[in-house]
Amino acid sequence: MSLKNRISTKDAQVGVIGLGYVGLPLAVTAAKAGFNVTGFDVDKSKLEHLDAGQSYIEAVQDTDLAAVAGHFDWSTDFAGLKACDVIVICVPTPLTRQREPDLSYVTKTTEVIAQHISPGTLVALESTTWPGTTKEVLTPILATSGLEPGKDIFLGFSPEREDPGNATYRTKTIPKIVAGDGEEAGDLMESFYGAVVETVVRVPDTATAEAVKITENIFRSVNIALVNELKLIYDKMGIDIWDVIDGAATKPFGYMPFYPGPGLGGHCIPIDPFYLTWRARQFEVPTRFIELAGEINTAMPHHVIDRLREILDQATGRGLNGAKILLVGVAYKKNVSDMRESPAMRLMQLLEEAGSSVEFLDPHVPELPPMREYGQFRARRAIDPNAVASAGFDAVLIATDHDTIDYEALLNLGRPVVDTRNAIARRALAMENVTKV
Ligand SMILES: NC(=O)c1ccc[n+]([C@@H]2O[C@H](COP(=O)([O-])OP(=O)(O)OC[C@H]3O[C@@H](n4cnc5c(N)ncnc54)[C@H](O)[C@@H]3O)[C@@H](O)[C@H]2O)c1
Repeated sequence: MSLKNRISTKDAQVGVIGLGYVGLPLAVTAAKAGFNVTGFDVDKSKLEHLDAGQSYIEAVQDTDLAAVAGHFDWSTDFAGLKACDVIVICVPTPLTRQREPDLSYVTKTTEVIAQHISPGTLVALESTTWPGTTKEVLTPILATSGLEPGKDIFLGFSPEREDPGNATYRTKTIPKIVAGDGEEAGDLMESFYGAVVETVVRVPDTATAEAVKITENIFRSVNIALVNELKLIYDKMGIDIWDVIDGAATKPFGYMPFYPGPGLGGHCIPIDPFYLTWRARQFEVPTRFIELAGEINTAMPHHVIDRLREILDQATGRGLNGAKILLVGVAYKKNVSDMRESPAMRLMQLLEEAGSSVEFLDPHVPELPPMREYGQFRARRAIDPNAVASAGFDAVLIATDHDTIDYEALLNLGRPVVDTRNAIARRALAMENVTKV
């Protein structure tokens, strides 16, 4: 039976490499759609959780894992790739210390695939990357298998659009961009993803699909930078940026609200634009807009700390040195535990460099996980909410506005509150001690 037929009858065996925020929901969604799926990961602790029937990602419930029992298994032994008809790569694409694309996870994974791949297999890359990666980087590595890409094996790109914490849009319901390297690969990509998610949108080639993803993220980065800059401007004029955005957002066309904050967070927006700027340098085209957005967004944590210093100076006469600060919300966005690139860590670092001592309160993050940067904060534990009142904090800094935080209790401390998320005003609470920053 051809791969296309095996996909349509759900007899195709699917392998998902990298069972993180992207790979695990995809593996479960494909298994729910009726495919047999094997997940591959190098992180044994993740697989131990799966052995125990426990999900480690908020978008996947334990009940989802139970629902696909018998259709979803997992392994650290990549020899199992030999049996896979469709292999999806969902490994990280971070930046190096020099803030350049680090494709090492993708290239190493592709080398492992090349050792085990069988004829007729479709390989799909989902990791976000610069336009041209699939064709220029993956094709030659896969060709070392002795099988010819485009003839014996097929290659495509389909960007992930996960939105951690979004209850409305899930892997299955988010329209999925697909492209193949060549007609046949494109057809196979369309068939496979069409069997897994509700809506598939085919674009002409893999570089276009890669560019779609990067464009979506740059769009967010630039718009967030714009409202961050407007916040600083309006602040000087005594105008509240959140009131402005709420007003503008009533326009039914031509406007989309973005909100200011203490800096950028998450896996995508602080990182992905650099994939394009790096690539653009090879073509000698400037990327001024993207870099300007990066500059403005990177300056936001400094702005927040400067304002907090001024406010403390007025309140206590001694600024940040020796101050005791309660940092509220450390995850990068509300109502999730995701800590990747969280601006709260930068705030914590800047505060400690300025001589403050910092404790954090976050109902979603009881303990700080290992992070690529900020290793010094690893395993620090959140303060017990019951201990906050007696801890003698000089100020409260709200970095992330989780819904389950008791904001009234924070106001009852009677200390200055710096609110970077408009959390207090949105709840119509007393604003005497609160400064929106
Ligand atoms: N998380 C998101 O919201 C999101 C959204 C869109 C795109 N993406 C992109 O998807 C890709 C994956 O991101 P993620 O958030 O799922 O990352 P993640 O860190 O949550 O997961 C990656 C997984 O890959 C595993 N891994 C690393 N090296 C491996 C190897 N050699 N072989 C097998 N497994 C390996 C890790 O152990 C981890 O479990 C990235 O390129 C990211 O930019 C992520």
